[in-house]
Amino acid sequence: MSFRIQPTPPARPNRCQLFGPGSNTKLFEKMAASAADVINLDLEDSVSPSDKDRARANVIQAINDVDWNSKYLSVRINGLDTPYWYRDVVDVLEQAGDRLDQIMIPKVGCAADVYAVDALVTAIETAKGRSKPISFEVIIESAAGIAHVGEIAASSPRMAAISLGAADFAASMGMQTTGIGGTQDQYYMLHGDTRHYADPWHWAQTAIVAACRTHGILPVDGPFGDFSDDEGYRAQARRSATLGMVGKWAIHPKQIALANEVFTPSAEAVTEAREILTAMNEAKARGEGATVYKGRLVDIASIKQAKVIVRQSEMITG
Ligand code: COA
Ligand code: MG
Repeated sequence: MSFRIQPTPPARPNRCQLFGPGSNTKLFEKMAASAADVINLDLEDSVSPSDKDRARANVIQAINDVDWNSKYLSVRINGLDTPYWYRDVVDVLEQAGDRLDQIMIPKVGCAADVYAVDALVTAIETAKGRSKPISFEVIIESAAGIAHVGEIAASSPRMAAISLGAADFAASMGMQTTGIGGTQDQYYMLHGDTRHYADPWHWAQTAIVAACRTHGILPVDGPFGDFSDDEGYRAQARRSATLGMVGKWAIHPKQIALANEVFTPSAEAVTEAREILTAMNEAKARGEGATVYKGRLVDIASIKQAKVIVRQSEMITG
């Protein structure tokens, strides 16, 4: 272990982030009543340029008026390459009350992007006497973003979560796909006549997970566009969970239950984790650092692995 202890990420469930366009006011109450842990009201790419001002006003009203209950409430602002983003930050923070928890910054390419938003947010918080500091989540969805993911994760104490945005990422990387996440038909190894499909998002996900874990931030998988493909969503989410991500976006309400299912540790997994902790406690009492559980080696590293599952479960059940 490095002398520097790995910081723990925010202790809140982040299994599903439900998105809805700020222009579509009829969705807000439904989003608030959903089973998603995090709500992302969108001012960016699901809102057309002609609708930006109206969407911003809708979102401010919704933050103030809708009962968001225990949801972690986030607004996705427009990118720093647009003329909209500063007004998103200024109007939302000046006019919406303290109920807002987080700002999501899309298409972040370097630490200075986060610094710029941080400077503006800090000035407004101070000027307005806002009592609750706004946290940041950012989307890695460009070549620059993934190349600089380490400095981005370290860019501000406000940083709480990083998502992979598959569609913009694919476009920026020049990937030959129009799908949003999931299996890609052309990405396979040929063994004899058999195609073995690999995961083109894998390396970007692991880079994000490593940067997040280094800095105590929640790593999150982004959208899965084909909302009629439940099994495809589950498969993508399971891979993300296996790699250490804590949740995934929903771009349609159907996907909420799927995310919650995958990112809530199963009863069997929690039981097994608790049994491993018991087995290791017994081993420790015997003066041993390793023992056998169900025919396989468990040792001091297994305690940490088991604790990840138990902690996740306890956080969700409260
Ligand atoms: N949040 C909450 N409820 C939603 C919803 C959302 N994001 N999207 C749809 N619903 C509701 C609909 O209002 C409808 O409700 P009803 O049964 O009371 O009429 C129900 O879920 C079924 O919706 P459906 O008809 O299948 O979808 P749609 O054609 O109305 O909308 C989308 C499809 C994709 C346009 C819509 O889901 C959407 O806008 N998603 C979010 C897009 C987004 O934010 N993208 C940015 C991040 S990538
Ligand atoms: Mg995007």
